[in-house]
Amino acid sequence: MSEFRVAGFRRRFPALRSCHRNEAPYAPAIYLDNAATTHRPDAVIEATRDFYTYTNANVHRGLYRLADEASERFEAARTTIAQFFGMPSDSELIFTSGTTDSLNIVANGFAQTVLDHRSEIWISPFEHHANLVTWQQVARKSRATLRKLPTDPWGLVDPTALEKELSSSISPLKIVCLKHVCNVLGTIQDIQNLCRVISKNGAVSVIDGAQAPAHVELDLSSLGADFYATGAHKMYGPMGIGALIARRDRLEQISPFRYGGNMISSVTFESTEFAEVPARFEAGTPNAAGAVAWAAAIDFLREYRRADLHAHEHRLAEEATTGLESLLGVKVLGCGLKAPIVSFVVAGVHPHDIAGWLDQKGVAVRAGAHCCHPMMAALGQVGTTRASFAPYNTLSEVSALVQGVSEALRKFRL
Ligand code: ALA
Repeated sequence: MSEFRVAGFRRRFPALRSCHRNEAPYAPAIYLDNAATTHRPDAVIEATRDFYTYTNANVHRGLYRLADEASERFEAARTTIAQFFGMPSDSELIFTSGTTDSLNIVANGFAQTVLDHRSEIWISPFEHHANLVTWQQVARKSRATLRKLPTDPWGLVDPTALEKELSSSISPLKIVCLKHVCNVLGTIQDIQNLCRVISKNGAVSVIDGAQAPAHVELDLSSLGADFYATGAHKMYGPMGIGALIARRDRLEQISPFRYGGNMISSVTFESTEFAEVPARFEAGTPNAAGAVAWAAAIDFLREYRRADLHAHEHRLAEEATTGLESLLGVKVLGCGLKAPIVSFVVAGVHPHDIAGWLDQKGVAVRAGAHCCHPMMAALGQVGTTRASFAPYNTLSEVSALVQGVSEALRKFRL
């Protein structure tokens, strides 16, 4: 194991210090559902409390000192977050309520206004519903064609295959929608090369980056994505805040479609001039405390070497994979370089039974279709059981997972 000290990292998360509330003997839960949401460190919880305690005022409105301080903290958070994602300018980051909201903004504020019956939306069945359902609706309303991306059996897109498809399409406007890191399998798309191919063929890339920032070092200024959607709560930040990140000229192609305070520069009874990017997309009172707490999560992460965190969580995923695959009838899905997400199926046992049994043992995992029904159909599975790791997890927690699954096999397998 690297020099990274798990115990010290783990101690900073109050949810891992506390105990099950209603169960004797109050064993701490083994939390292996980090792809759904991570826990939050004290620093993030404290930043939320601090914002509401000491700088609670609405932002970009008040003419008093407290309101200025609130606005300054909100905008300082934008700077911290934009820098973390490698963006040179704060105005290239719109705050949203999360990854899903960010994708919806691109779909409704950009795509819906430019697509028509000659356009194509390229997407695969492996996408999360937040991506697939959103684009299905846009295709229906704009009469664009939904086209299936070429993938391997695990949903990975080969840049050469993509090049072939896009270059042979005569559609004048193509949008390609992809998730960076798969929430079910942990597989990682070759996103930089894919974005290069998409751009070379005059198409627009929309990347679902929900799972990526916790596990991949990102420099969005060189990644080449047209639109990158992401959120805070899978990277130790709060729920309810995310971002749409794009070059300014791209953001300027989005039409505001949520109207209200803070997004205007002037209004007469008859008409409105909208504010500059990013304010024009942030109608209403923003989640300022959420932004400040997300920046605190980033400051927290900066106390560690990312490589150490990643090495540890990968070790956990590898141990889990080896341990689970040593059990008769258990198959771990996916291939290649992966984020620390281990999805597995057990011949003859439903994933819900496995997860229910593990819960009784104090092990929290997710089971089912993971908001990816068409992906399950493509994999030929009703669902999977998924253990997803964070750097606060330990090898003994991996052992408890493997032991729990082994017991479940004895209990449920006929
Ligand atoms: N998309 C999240 C997951 O995969 C919620 O669990």
